[in-house]
Amino acid sequence: MKIFVPLDSAAKALGADDVADAISREAKARGLDVRIVRNGTRGMVWLEPLVEIDTPEGRIGYGNVTPDQVPDLLDGKLNGLGRVEDIDWFARQTRLTFARCGVIDPLDLDDYETHGGLVGLRRAIGMTGSQIVQEVTDSGLRGRGGAGFPTGIKWKTVAEAEAPQKYIVCNADEGDSGTFADRMIIEGDPFSLIEGMAIAGLGVGATRGYVYLRSEYPDAIHILTQAVTIARQRGLLGPDVLGSGRAFDMEVRTGAGAYVCGEETSLLNSLEGKRGTVRAKPPLPALQGFLGRPTVVNNVISLATVPVIFEKGAQHYADFGLGRSRGTVTLQIAGNVKRGGLFETAFGMTLGEVVNDIGGGTASGRPVKAVQVGGPLGAYMPVEKFDTPMGYEEFDRNGGLIGHAGLVVFDDTADMLRMARFAMEFCAVESCGKCTPCRIGAVRGVETIDRIAQGDAAAIPLLTDLCETMKDGSLCALGGFTPFPVMSALTHFPDDFATLQEAAE
Ligand code: NAI
Ligand code: SF4
Repeated sequence: MKIFVPLDSAAKALGADDVADAISREAKARGLDVRIVRNGTRGMVWLEPLVEIDTPEGRIGYGNVTPDQVPDLLDGKLNGLGRVEDIDWFARQTRLTFARCGVIDPLDLDDYETHGGLVGLRRAIGMTGSQIVQEVTDSGLRGRGGAGFPTGIKWKTVAEAEAPQKYIVCNADEGDSGTFADRMIIEGDPFSLIEGMAIAGLGVGATRGYVYLRSEYPDAIHILTQAVTIARQRGLLGPDVLGSGRAFDMEVRTGAGAYVCGEETSLLNSLEGKRGTVRAKPPLPALQGFLGRPTVVNNVISLATVPVIFEKGAQHYADFGLGRSRGTVTLQIAGNVKRGGLFETAFGMTLGEVVNDIGGGTASGRPVKAVQVGGPLGAYMPVEKFDTPMGYEEFDRNGGLIGHAGLVVFDDTADMLRMARFAMEFCAVESCGKCTPCRIGAVRGVETIDRIAQGDAAAIPLLTDLCETMKDGSLCALGGFTPFPVMSALTHFPDDFATLQEAAE
């Protein structure tokens, strides 16, 4: 009997290791021939630990399994959820990037190949660098780290730059609140990232890659490091990638835990062993990046999506989506929500559908007040904006940003003045200190919001003014985007900013 128990950190935090141990003990005691496969997660975090038993009818799921339920599980007495693929939440998704996550054993390269792995790389090997770049351009893929910059244009810039050495750098410093897509794919399907980086290397003529992975993700570091070693042993990485005669190798580097190191130039400084402060752009990293050489800096999800684009063709990918947002978005639904997890779907679903239909509304059962989309620098979207479709331009038109596609749901007990204060405080703590609007502005922002909280209504225009200065004058997105949560809180929830004096009257 084959039983799948996720090794994903979210599942482990909910007791998956104890469940795996209990299954192993119980099977041994009964003399049962049980093979436990530690898979990635299917993304349905509210069902973790989600145990699956392989049967002739398919993989039958059992949600929220505890160690004391294991005897019943093995006796066939535990109530199951049916075939995992048929669970509505799962069945409604379009899984392209995450197609294998939760399905395969993350470190089994043969399992990876059985499920479509390496088809894309083999196809790319038969193409010239410019054909590879064109394929990515045709797919419409845009940077999934947050900015949504067209990946094909970035690759073209690097491909056309003349240099003796070029690099692929993967930004795995996933620091946005409510986000976990990078971690999940690395823990559940690390070869997809390795394959994507190898294709990027062949496309732009880079022979070395680095994954900058945050120290807060020890499981992901462990799994990816092992996957790189296996990939090297099996010829997927090295001087002759899958017998192509072309070289690409990579290594994992661990960050030390600064939010700003997710900003690409700060990341590059950190990767070079320097302090993680932001560099002015230009020059773009695409022209002068790691060690001053042309460098592709892409987010994990952007790179892990590349294999499926080459496997199924650019047009297949581009056929999904809305407007200029092509393909799928890996939504990370978190916060005060009933059914949190990773939901991959074509761009175009509305925010309200995501929160209410998919997320099931708040876990507290109270009305939704706001949803912060796009991390701590994203706007608070009120319920009135729930008809906004998930799309880069559509969010922009509605004063928001999709960012890395993390959604944090709040119920009506949330105090939006406190949330605005938190945004300024976060910026003050995480600021790299290089530019004045962010370094000083964020500290003044906290003080100004405190004045509003104490009843000083005159501080409200001051806050607006300060946000304008930070937005226009900051060197990078940390200072430049902090006004989004602050101003959206002020605009959509003015009652929470009614001064204490006014409230007392
Ligand atoms: P940006 O708009 O300055 O640049 C986007 C990307 O395009 C960069 O890689 C830039 O180097 C590249 N680029 C621009 N013009 C180019 C050209 N002509 N040729 C080649 N490459 C070119 O945005 P930035 O500052 O890199 O990212 C901001 C975003 O990051 C925000 O939207 C925010 O949501 C997101 N973010 C994500 C976090 C996460 O945890 N994933 C954390 C913090 C922010
Ligand atoms: Fe540094 Fe903040 Fe300026 Fe960015 S905006 S460069 S984090 S001081």
